[in-house]
Order: sequence, then structure tokens, then C-alpha cells
Amino acid sequence: MPILRLDRFISNNTEYSRSQIKDLIKHNRVLVDNVVVKKSDIKVDTERSNILVDGKTISEFGLRYYMMYKPSSVVCSTDDSESTTVIDLLPENLKDKNLFPAGRLDKDSEGFVLLTNDGDFSHKILSAKNHVAKYYIVRLARPFQADYIEKFSKGIELSNGEVCLPSRVIQWEGSQYYAVIELYEGKYHQIKRMFASVGNHVEYLFRFQIGNLALNQNLTKGSVLEVLHKELPEILKNTDTKFFEKDFQTKISSFITNIEL
Ligand code: URA
Repeated sequence: MPILRLDRFISNNTEYSRSQIKDLIKHNRVLVDNVVVKKSDIKVDTERSNILVDGKTISEFGLRYYMMYKPSSVVCSTDDSESTTVIDLLPENLKDKNLFPAGRLDKDSEGFVLLTNDGDFSHKILSAKNHVAKYYIVRLARPFQADYIEKFSKGIELSNGEVCLPSRVIQWEGSQYYAVIELYEGKYHQIKRMFASVGNHVEYLFRFQIGNLALNQNLTKGSVLEVLHKELPEILKNTDTKFFEKDFQTKISSFITNIEL
């Protein structure tokens, strides 16, 4: 029987430090088998006990988050009989950990996909009401038109009558064929359909940021990097004021020059 000190088990399987765990316990945020725990040094049977921190089960693997640079021809699903999935691309030691993509990019789209085993967090970043922005660079078949900005800001109506939430779009200063778009929702092929509604066509789509966390530019296509628990607030951060800031524009330029658009 794996008997371990509670604080050691939690620190082994999360990124909480010993002092943070003490604090969690002090504030009644840790439960073992549905009982609030008062001491961090109690011994627990880690195989049989249900250990919860803030209502989330801490398992041997714990709640994990990975940023993947998805290449094209790979599908954002856990299982597919025809195509390579994002799970197929994971290193062997992560393949059986119940990770799934939190949100989808189309098969021919590339960029930042978050993989996690945390259903609550996934729901949080995908639900439009939580206002977590996703940022994309697109290459267009035809030049960007200035009136897209107003049309997108009013909410584009798609060909089937669905109306999108207002979104911000800008032409990238370097080329009339590149645009940057901010979305707070994820309808099927949404960006492609939005540009189709204004008479254009998306030739290439790259997601470079979720919330305030950008894809790490050292990642190669198909590889992953762990996102630490302490970085999660960045994903949830309100980025409303960032879109027109100089730093954001610099970041876009650097993605546009580094990715093979
Ligand atoms: N919108 C699209 O059309 N495709 C994507 O992959 C993501 C957003």
C-alpha cells in the first residue's frame, strides 16, 4: 500500500509548494475522503483515498497542461481512424494520461493547442461567457478591406444565418494579405466562414495565443511544452486592452516572420 504524507503526495503531483499546501489546508481547501483535513503531515493511502484540492481530485499524474504546436494534417481529437491526432504526437510517457485538446483547430490549421486532463479548465477557456480570447494570424487570398474592421466588430452573419460575437480584426501592417483576429468563441470553421461572409478566403490559419499566453516560439511543429499551474492565470487573463498595444504588435511581427506562412 502506498502510504505517504499528505503534503508530500500533493507536492509530488501538483505544483503547489509545501508552504502553499499548508496554506490550502489552513483554509479548509483539502479533503481526504470527503473530510476536511487539518494537518499536512497526516499519512494517506494514496491508492485508496480520494484526495481533493479545491474540489479537484489529485491523482498520481495530477492535473496537467501542455502547449502543443500543432502542424497541419493533424486532427484535434483523441482518436481518429484515418488521420494522425494530436495525441499520436505526444511523447510515449504522455500518451496514456487521458489528455485531450481543449478546443479545436482545423486539420489544415496550425499553432497553439492546449492539451489537458482538466475538464473544468477546458470548459472555462472555451465557454464564451468566460471571455478568454484566442488570437489568430490568417493569410488571405484577396487583400484585406478596411470595412472588415467595422463588419467584424458588429458581429458577422455566417452563410447559415448564425451571428458571431463581435470581434476585432486588423490588417497586419506588413502585408494586405495578412490579418490578425481575436475570437471569444469557437464555432465550426468560424474564421474561414467569417472571411467567406465578407467575400474573402482564408488560405492559412495560425493560432498564436490563448488568453495572455503565447505559443512558445522555441517549440517545433508537433512538440509540446508543459504549462505550469502558476501560468494558468495568464490563460484566463482579460486581454481586452492588449490588442492594440505595441508589445502585442511586436509579438505578431515575430510570429509572422518566424512561422512558415
Ligand atoms: N477558425 C477556423 O476557421 N479554423 C480554425 O482552425 C480555427 C478557427
